[in-house]
Amino acid sequence: MPEDSVKVAVRVRPFNQREKDRNAKLVIKMQGSTTTITNPEAPSEEPKKFAFDYSYWSHDGFTSQDDGILVPNAGSPYASQHKVFQDLGQGVLDNAFEGYNCSLFAYGQTGSGKSYSMVGYGANKGIVPITCDELFKTMGTNQDQNKRFEVTFSMLEIYNEQVRDLLSKDNPKGGLAVRQNPKLGMFYVQNLKKVPVGSYSEIEMRMEQGTSNRTVASTNMNATSSRAHTVVTIVFDQIIKDDSGNETKKSSTMNLVDLAGSERADSTGATGDRLKEGANINRSLSALGNVISALADQSENKKTVVPYRDSVLTKLLQNALGGNSKTVMIAALSPADINYVETLSTLRYADRAKKIKNQAVINENPLDKMIRELKEENEKLRKALEAGGVVPSDGRTQMSEEEMKALEEKIRSQLMANQQLIGDSEQSWDEKLSAARNETEAFVSEGNREVARKNKEPHLMNLNEDPMLSGVVFHFLDGQATVIGRKDGNPDIALSGLNIQKKHAVLTQEGGSEVTIKPGSDGAKTKVNGVPITGPRSLEHMDRIIFGSNHVYVFVNPAKPQAPEGTPKEITWEFAQKEVAQAKGFATGLAGLTKEQQIAQEQILEVLPMVSEVNAVSEELNKYKSFEVVLISAAAQESTTGKSASGPQDPSSFATKDDPRFRPQVMVKMKNLLNGNTWLWAHGKFVDRKYMIQDMYQRYLDGEDVHSIPREEDPFWEPTEDILIGTADIFLQSLVNAMDFSDQLSITDYKGQEEGKLNVNIIPCNQSGLALDEDNYVEDSKELLKKPFHFKIEVSSAEIHKPRFSKGIKVKYRLLTDKDFTETKQVVDTLSPEFGHSRVVSIPKMKEQHLDFFRDHSITFLVFGKQEDTAGDPNLAKLTTKELRQMEQIGSAADSSRRKSVFAHDTPAPDNAHIRTELVLMQRKYERLAQKEKRMMQLCDEWSKKPPEEQLFEPFFRAVSAVAHSTGTRLKTRVQLLNQMLAIQKKQEEETPSEQMLRAQRIIRENASSEKVSSQRPPSGFVSFSFGFPSPVFLPTFPLTASHASVAQPTLYASPVSLPDSGAA
Ligand SMILES: Nc1ncnc2c1ncn2[C@@H]1O[C@H](COP(=O)(O)OP(=O)(O)O)[C@@H](O)[C@H]1O
Ligand SMILES: [Mg+2]
Repeated sequence: MPEDSVKVAVRVRPFNQREKDRNAKLVIKMQGSTTTITNPEAPSEEPKKFAFDYSYWSHDGFTSQDDGILVPNAGSPYASQHKVFQDLGQGVLDNAFEGYNCSLFAYGQTGSGKSYSMVGYGANKGIVPITCDELFKTMGTNQDQNKRFEVTFSMLEIYNEQVRDLLSKDNPKGGLAVRQNPKLGMFYVQNLKKVPVGSYSEIEMRMEQGTSNRTVASTNMNATSSRAHTVVTIVFDQIIKDDSGNETKKSSTMNLVDLAGSERADSTGATGDRLKEGANINRSLSALGNVISALADQSENKKTVVPYRDSVLTKLLQNALGGNSKTVMIAALSPADINYVETLSTLRYADRAKKIKNQAVINENPLDKMIRELKEENEKLRKALEAGGVVPSDGRTQMSEEEMKALEEKIRSQLMANQQLIGDSEQSWDEKLSAARNETEAFVSEGNREVARKNKEPHLMNLNEDPMLSGVVFHFLDGQATVIGRKDGNPDIALSGLNIQKKHAVLTQEGGSEVTIKPGSDGAKTKVNGVPITGPRSLEHMDRIIFGSNHVYVFVNPAKPQAPEGTPKEITWEFAQKEVAQAKGFATGLAGLTKEQQIAQEQILEVLPMVSEVNAVSEELNKYKSFEVVLISAAAQESTTGKSASGPQDPSSFATKDDPRFRPQVMVKMKNLLNGNTWLWAHGKFVDRKYMIQDMYQRYLDGEDVHSIPREEDPFWEPTEDILIGTADIFLQSLVNAMDFSDQLSITDYKGQEEGKLNVNIIPCNQSGLALDEDNYVEDSKELLKKPFHFKIEVSSAEIHKPRFSKGIKVKYRLLTDKDFTETKQVVDTLSPEFGHSRVVSIPKMKEQHLDFFRDHSITFLVFGKQEDTAGDPNLAKLTTKELRQMEQIGSAADSSRRKSVFAHDTPAPDNAHIRTELVLMQRKYERLAQKEKRMMQLCDEWSKKPPEEQLFEPFFRAVSAVAHSTGTRLKTRVQLLNQMLAIQKKQEEETPSEQMLRAQRIIRENASSEKVSSQRPPSGFVSFSFGFPSPVFLPTFPLTASHASVAQPTLYASPVSLPDSGAA
């Protein structure tokens, strides 16, 4: 049998607006069939190379025609939709006509361009529609009277391991069943609608219908569309009559699969979440990866079992992947630097896929014979079932009840499978087609009516985080007042999902063009342009409305089509979400932000709506948990996720502040509202948990008792862990001069609030930890080079403010060269722990790098508090999650005035700490010099007071130079003093003793100031100000509570009943 490798194409899309805004760097290059990717963090590294059947450059070099179609500029390598179809789609089509099964997959992270390639946007139609169009065009050229065609279309979605029929409005709870044909081994979806189609436009209609159903379901069920796989299946049959009137059927099944986003949670810190394995997060996608790996191994003659049965997707695509199918995979690539890790992983995936070999055969069968055989078999099976006497094939007469049941089940599914093959009914093809056409017609005329209304009447148009699902659902305003609400309230427009009230909002029309919105009931959450509404508000064309948590719409008013100034031409889901963030007090502009901050900000905007949603579920299910977004230094983040950085061991490679370790991390804090315990979740872990929480909520809506699930399976539950109270930094600068440094450091939490003080000493010492004395001070750090150097880190004690941390306190830290954290002992039952911790760090031979390291780096001490899983305050448990969250928000509103907006600081906080350390050091130097000055003055005084005959220069000179030589002035002072003294000696004969003395005094003073230390003490306020500086976490820490509405609309808190929406929606 001929073997065929899976064909693999990669395609890189243009930068999107966000990437342009932040000046993203391009990391992909293509030349011929070679694709290379450069690591933006190691630009000098050799780029990684991959070769594929096709490499499509769709990044730049194109123009938009008047009709919106993107075409290549002259001489540009730009690959248009048409080009991609010609290479990939045409092959699929040809194979289909020959009777082969064909499959086309799109793989890649969310937003990389899978749907663009498969389905396309607007005028830029993707491979699926063009292929379908061409299919019917080619069929139309058929002249053969003895040949007829039958095309059926089906469209399904796999979400959370459940199959939904996208052509059907009513899907059973838990999805459609996936069964296996016992005889042929193939899996199929039971009761999936397969509609006959007679033209391309019918297919187009069906796809629209499917997308619209998908959108409604995804919004109502809070489903994350990027986690869904969409499968379009077209069965193309050619029935050929031979001269003797016997019919043969050539059948091709085309599977066109837009896979779920491939972003791996582990790249964002979700590895090791105990819940991940059990949940169905991306199970289908990881199973697909395993299947591809196994198939690739098989192609290299390694013996492996291919785990098709591990997921719904791999069951359904068994044939497409490793069997009778010609298969094409298109891997969609993001061009931007920040997606490097994901894109590289996509390339590697694609690289493995190209090894897979398939054995496609032409599916040609005598039709009559096939149907006759199937019918005969079914007849037998039916009889066997009716007789109730199923006979075991091994000839036994006795069978257990279970065995009986299993056998019966097997027969039933065989029956059903055969039935599916024969055709669901006895209707002729033409009858079935015309029935389907009636249905499409209804849909078409509905669609036409909708188009006509859209141009005249005010309406709402949906927005979805997936651009494919935006602008798909339209709601028109009926009559004077349109009520929006939950189905059970019998509204005009029914919505379901989180935070939708029975009567949620009312839209009133007056004079045909004026539309007003108002809340339909107390507590109904609706936002217009990001701001919660509390009373009637008139709507303008292109206003954004969010009902509850996730129904996002644009209000379109054709009767008064002037949008207020500043409204963007095209409104996207991101725009609507950004507005919400802004209204909550988050800055969203990119101006003046570093790249790291921009990335963090983007993540915040992504996570904020999710946090709101999870809070809403927590309230509805009364989980006593509250969530907020926090931004945290990398050092702290590592320790909270247990992830140990595998950083290089050489301190010199950490010399800059651009080091990824200094990146701020967007995390989510979960708080137990009853006992105050908190947890910090990495971005990826939170996103996965959110998905599980959505799933749990859906099961709750489906009537499942989710309150009784074991806590190990509860996405809201987490074992207690030590919590990071705060961090404190000490700079190592003093070591450059071999000076010791003690400080009381402020322990600050991620919001920059002081949580306590930490007493730390950094002391140069000998190998055994004995502190060096002052004489070892070096003015010029070069003197330390090439010698061994030792210093001691002492963590002596702390004072912690919050009583709840008295259960146990410990400190962890590590030098950048350390692999693991060093821990102090845990001190329990006190807020003033004495750690008595001391550690000697030895550097066998000092290098320039070590000095740089001392100059630029600090040690971050992470102060941890023990948490216990206590029941908490019984009085609090009498309140609901919603009430407790409201109380919390009022509490945090009180201190919110001190908080500043996100990224308000341009100066990174470390500089403050740096300056402070430097000041302390300067002050120390100053004190030293002042002391010396005083001593020299004394000597001069004593000398001048002596009778002239005792004013001998020799002893005076020795005394003064002894002081000069003493601790810490081995600099210019020493040399210059000596020189000057010699000069004095020369002039001695010409000057009177008192003249000589004055001169000596002046010289000493001049030299003192040449040490660059002001001979005047700095104003005391300044010094104490520098001491009062909070020792911050590495990056400016920002107030990122979802309760930020309190900043923007503080007055709304006046009435506790109508609290503003603050994160719950
Ligand atoms: N080749 C391309 N040319 C132009 N725009 C593209 C291209 N590929 C993707 N895009 C745009 O990028 C965005 C995300 O693409 P999409 O196909 O929806 O991603 P995915 O399905 O992988 O999540 C869309 O707005 C889409 O129009
Ligand atoms: Mg998509």
